[in-house]
Amino acid sequence: MMVQTRQNASLIVGESQRTLQVLRHINKVAQGRWPVLVLGETGTGKEMVARSIHQTNPEGPFVTIDCSSLVGPLMESELFGHARGAFTGAVGAKLGLIEMANGGTAFLDEIGELPLDMQAKLLRVLQEKEFRPVGSLHSRRSDFRVIAATNRDLAKEVERGTFRRDLYYRLNVVTLRIAPLRERKDDIATLVDHFLERYSRGHKLTQDVMDAFQAYDWPGNVRELENCVQQMVAINSGPLLHVGDLPSGIQNFLFTRKSQAMAVCAGAGTVGFTSSDPMRIPPAPEYLPILPLTEMERRAIVHALEYTKGDRGIAANLLGIGRTTLYRKIKEYQLAC
Ligand SMILES: Nc1ncnc2c1ncn2[C@@H]1O[C@H](COP(=O)(O)OP(=O)(O)OP(=O)(O)O)[C@@H](O)[C@H]1O
Ligand SMILES: [Mg+2]
Repeated sequence: MMVQTRQNASLIVGESQRTLQVLRHINKVAQGRWPVLVLGETGTGKEMVARSIHQTNPEGPFVTIDCSSLVGPLMESELFGHARGAFTGAVGAKLGLIEMANGGTAFLDEIGELPLDMQAKLLRVLQEKEFRPVGSLHSRRSDFRVIAATNRDLAKEVERGTFRRDLYYRLNVVTLRIAPLRERKDDIATLVDHFLERYSRGHKLTQDVMDAFQAYDWPGNVRELENCVQQMVAINSGPLLHVGDLPSGIQNFLFTRKSQAMAVCAGAGTVGFTSSDPMRIPPAPEYLPILPLTEMERRAIVHALEYTKGDRGIAANLLGIGRTTLYRKIKEYQLAC
């Protein structure tokens, strides 16, 4: 059964045990004001989780502070604001992000990117709830809930001395780990339905495409899946989308996987591997036969054309060459297809 799990204002979609557990944790932590540290690879949905925590029990504004963009001479004034005339060009006073978050939630995105000197200043705000705008003689107060996110291993950064231990403990009261998509493939079907509903005009995916989605490892996680569906829908009138419509990166991955599986099977023949002996895994061949480059090229082209059932456009894509080059080489090698 397809379950679409939407909680409160959140749009977190998924039905895997991992996602359902994250949703339960969101509901729990939203009831308090503890600092939350959201960890996960890029594109796993960390920002979505942060917004959901805030929206589940909204109080005041939700202010995103992108720590990776806090660089250069203006970063302190971005964060803490500045007094009028604090520096050349500061014609008026400016409110900083920290003050904007007062009474609400500050989402410290990419916290692992925050330079050490700013880490010290942030720690002070979290401890004392006080800060001083650039060029001001007076401290101001700001009290907010903190949700921080990073795709870095902050504990390691602490060991390395690039992240302050005291700030780490202050932020890491509740930890939410968002699993990479390859470890929660039960979410894929629901996510695909969700993105098709959002982006498509009645497109449907073949079972082969769904199988490919299950086989792929999604290094860019949910964001990559979303982009993939968006791209397929945008450039194909459909209504049915096939494996040939997948972005070339995914096709290449599947092609390499298939070639590796075929190489293992070919190797299996030489060591007496039979289907009646499924537990016996053939040893990988130590050497691949060395072939003249032209022969390797010819074989690669034949393989790509077989794999794509003669579709020269996709074959050229997989081979990383232009369509015209492929035509020329087909002629050159006298390949009948
Ligand atoms: N469970 C989910 N349900 C629906 N959409 C999701 C889900 N998880 C992620 N997304 C979508 O994937 C995209 C990436 O999510 P988000 O920006 O929250 O990831 P992130 O972990 O913050 O990424 P990064 O580390 O690159 O900043 C967004 O467009 C978001 O809408
Ligand atoms: Mg993010």
